[in-house]
Amino acid sequence: MKITRVRVRSSAGPYSVVAGVGVIGHAAREIAHLGHFSSLHIVSSPKVWRAAGKTVERGLRLSHRKTLHLFNDAESAKHLGAVEHIARSLCQAGADRKSLIIAVGGGVVGDVAGFAAASYLRGVALVHIPTTLVAQVDSSIGGKTGVNLPEGKNLVGAFYPPRLVITDPDLLGTLADREFRGGLAEVVKHAVISDAPLFARLEKDLDRILRRDREALGSLIARNVQIKARVVSRDERESGLREILNFGHTFAHALESATLYRRYQHGEAVAWGMMAAAFLGYELKVTPAPDVSRIISLVCRLEPLPPWPSLSPAVLLDAMRSDKKSRSGVLRFVLSVRIGRARTFDSVPQQAVERVLRFTPRLIAAAGGRFGVSK
Ligand SMILES: NC(=O)c1ccc[n+]([C@@H]2O[C@H](COP(=O)([O-])OP(=O)(O)OC[C@H]3O[C@@H](n4cnc5c(N)ncnc54)[C@H](O)[C@@H]3O)[C@@H](O)[C@H]2O)c1
Ligand SMILES: [Zn+2]
Repeated sequence: MKITRVRVRSSAGPYSVVAGVGVIGHAAREIAHLGHFSSLHIVSSPKVWRAAGKTVERGLRLSHRKTLHLFNDAESAKHLGAVEHIARSLCQAGADRKSLIIAVGGGVVGDVAGFAAASYLRGVALVHIPTTLVAQVDSSIGGKTGVNLPEGKNLVGAFYPPRLVITDPDLLGTLADREFRGGLAEVVKHAVISDAPLFARLEKDLDRILRRDREALGSLIARNVQIKARVVSRDERESGLREILNFGHTFAHALESATLYRRYQHGEAVAWGMMAAAFLGYELKVTPAPDVSRIISLVCRLEPLPPWPSLSPAVLLDAMRSDKKSRSGVLRFVLSVRIGRARTFDSVPQQAVERVLRFTPRLIAAAGGRFGVSK
């Protein structure tokens, strides 16, 4: 079994991501290296626990006193109420400062359990066992935790790095296809912003990866863990470099919020967002034409995507301006200067963005993408 160990630097100290096919079988040993805990508390959701619980329990060989805390991991339930529910459940189970919380699930479980770990007794140790592709390559690394408010997504939270992340691609076997493809959009993003050889590998192997070939998936996830770990190790608080992880996301957040989070799975919005960002890069003479077409071709292979909404550019522009990441209404975009490299561009002209919003769905339809504009 090939195990990849990646060190992540954080302000609270370094931690490891241990990634590999079958690595969950070593979970007990990996956690034992962290020291002694008075009790173990698994935080997960009923759905995830049905899918992965047996494998995780076997891997943890639970010799400690352990308690299972389940909560609803729907995005609509990612709110402060869930944190209170978990904290009360921890309290009732006698969790103390020396307890360990193990978050088993996708990004929602990780973000909510992470925030509960950050705030319960002002902080107890946390281990992530991510069970979606997004969680494995993205959300479990970098220490961002938090919940949504009715006013917007992820508005309350904390930086709270875990002590360890255990990433086993075998846990993805039960994941819905739509979730899996959504995760692949973030993988394509990693390749565009920082890894040209990975991009070429995706062009070659995407079909194998879509079939969830274990070997292909194992090395793909390990590589993506390295990319995310490298970026967040150099810029934990998103003061510069970490921003490149937002490639495609300014458009994606606008598409998601303007369709009231009902039309797209996040990765699907990111897929559209990356195509729009490629066109914007071309408009601004930042992204070379051959790279634009490679990005479009690769992203198109993640189909089906829900269609682009029939909303005016003005509506989408408004949504962009109210994004918490747009600084004081100025339009900032991460653009690819070539495949494998990206940086942030300030004060992008509104007309260029408008043109892209107007023409992206038509250009994709013309390029043969089988997802068009909604009627
Ligand atoms: N903290 C970060 O840095 C960061 C980064 C990216 C995304 N996020 C957050 O992550 C969330 C999205 O996470 P996600 O894409 O992992 O989706 P998710 O957590 O919503 O999970 C998607 C669905 O898959 C189910 N599921 C999870 N694992 C499964 C498995 N192994 N088998 C079968 N079903 C399984 C879940 O129950 C859920 O229904 C968003 O709330 C987003 O804000 C956070
Ligand atoms: Zn994302």
